[in-house]
Amino acid sequence: MPQYKYLLDEKDMPTHWYNIMADMKEPPPPYRHPATLELMGPDDLAPVFPMELIKQEMSAERYIEIPDEVQDVLKMWRPSPLYRAVRWEKALDTPAKIYYKWEGVSPPGSHKPNTAVAQSYYAKEEGLAGLATETGAGQWGSALCFATQLFGLKCKVFMVTISYHQKPYRRVAMETWGGTVVPSPSSETKAGRDILAVDPETTGSLGIAISEAIEYAVTHDGFKYSLGSVVNFVLLHQTVVGLEVRKQMEMAGDYPDILIGCAGGGSNAAGFIYPFLKDKLTGDKPDLRAIFVESTASPSMTRGIYAYDWGDTAKTGPVAKMHTVGHSFIPAPIHAGGLRYHGMAPSICALLEQGVVEARAYHQNAVFDAAQSFAQTEGFIVAPETAHAVRAVYDEAMACKESGESKVIVFNNSGHGHFDMAAYDAYHRRELPDYELEDEKIQKALEELPQIPE
Ligand SMILES: Cc1ncc(COP(=O)(O)O)c(C=O)c1O
Repeated sequence: MPQYKYLLDEKDMPTHWYNIMADMKEPPPPYRHPATLELMGPDDLAPVFPMELIKQEMSAERYIEIPDEVQDVLKMWRPSPLYRAVRWEKALDTPAKIYYKWEGVSPPGSHKPNTAVAQSYYAKEEGLAGLATETGAGQWGSALCFATQLFGLKCKVFMVTISYHQKPYRRVAMETWGGTVVPSPSSETKAGRDILAVDPETTGSLGIAISEAIEYAVTHDGFKYSLGSVVNFVLLHQTVVGLEVRKQMEMAGDYPDILIGCAGGGSNAAGFIYPFLKDKLTGDKPDLRAIFVESTASPSMTRGIYAYDWGDTAKTGPVAKMHTVGHSFIPAPIHAGGLRYHGMAPSICALLEQGVVEARAYHQNAVFDAAQSFAQTEGFIVAPETAHAVRAVYDEAMACKESGESKVIVFNNSGHGHFDMAAYDAYHRRELPDYELEDEKIQKALEELPQIPE
């Protein structure tokens, strides 16, 4: 009988996060100030983020200790299981060996609480009253409401309008965990009002919701801003995923040939991939492949340019060097709300530029074919974001079938899709809204990038 899953004990949980900055040959350049475009120091970031997180953002230490209080909460669902996709392999008739890490076991249903818990802990330690944030599909907002509640903090969530209407029960989940949720753009902030004045019917974007959350945080006493992806400290917190998988792959007696994760801002994929990528950067595993999978609706890595850009639409957040389709680009209203971000984590972009990792994009229609085939064999109905990774695994498994190679493919199954039934319903009825590849719109948005002083 095959072994289906590899389980760790609570005592095997990582005690330190892994910081890839220590092993990158050339780390990404520092952030620039959103108004002056000059280099940004810790004090410039202090009104926005708790200081401990700013220190982590700028740290070059290889390992950073996970506070006991954070580990204690993570133990509610961690370590998470690693599965071998025995039935899916069989259905695909592939010689590939497919494994997946299952992050859908957290109470909100995804990897997002791995950083929400840490961010809430540091906010509490700093004496804050609450955190404000954006959310796309609602996974991140749910995670932060869940975590802030456990630490006795308030949570204000700006949820991208299209997702607010596509996934109404996500709002109810966030409210159950004590959060306050408004559709974004809203009339509660200047950033929101300005956008609504130009386009009252806009479907919103993550870039706009980030602007609103930052504005709310800096104008409300005791509040700071919390971000669910993109920045170094978020990717750092997510490395608990990959550190656990390393131990689980040892239990399985295999080492990955190909690692795959979906990427909105890049946090789940990086958290899963970086602890293995260390082996490639240090020369131990030069042939290891890592694939970050994005949506063709917001194709920053595959059709954007590598340049400095603002992290948000209203140009109030830090300016980062990254692959971007432009901060003013509003992606098509696909169901994978978490993949509608205009940029990508600067560390992933630097690794992509350096040829260490790969990027790939899929159209919404293609990803649900793979997610359905996965659900019908492995049982788990994955989030639309995760479905992008599942599609890439499918293609790699099929390439193995063609070549006869028995590669070890491991992917991060970042979350369940239980609040995303409208997306699966639309797929079954062949009513998923189609969209064009919006190269012209991207070119226009790219004309608005900042001019960085030398
Ligand atoms: C289940 C799931 N996977 C992936 C993502 C993409 O985010 P990231 O690239 O930060 O992991 C999201 C974001 O909302 C998500 O909810």
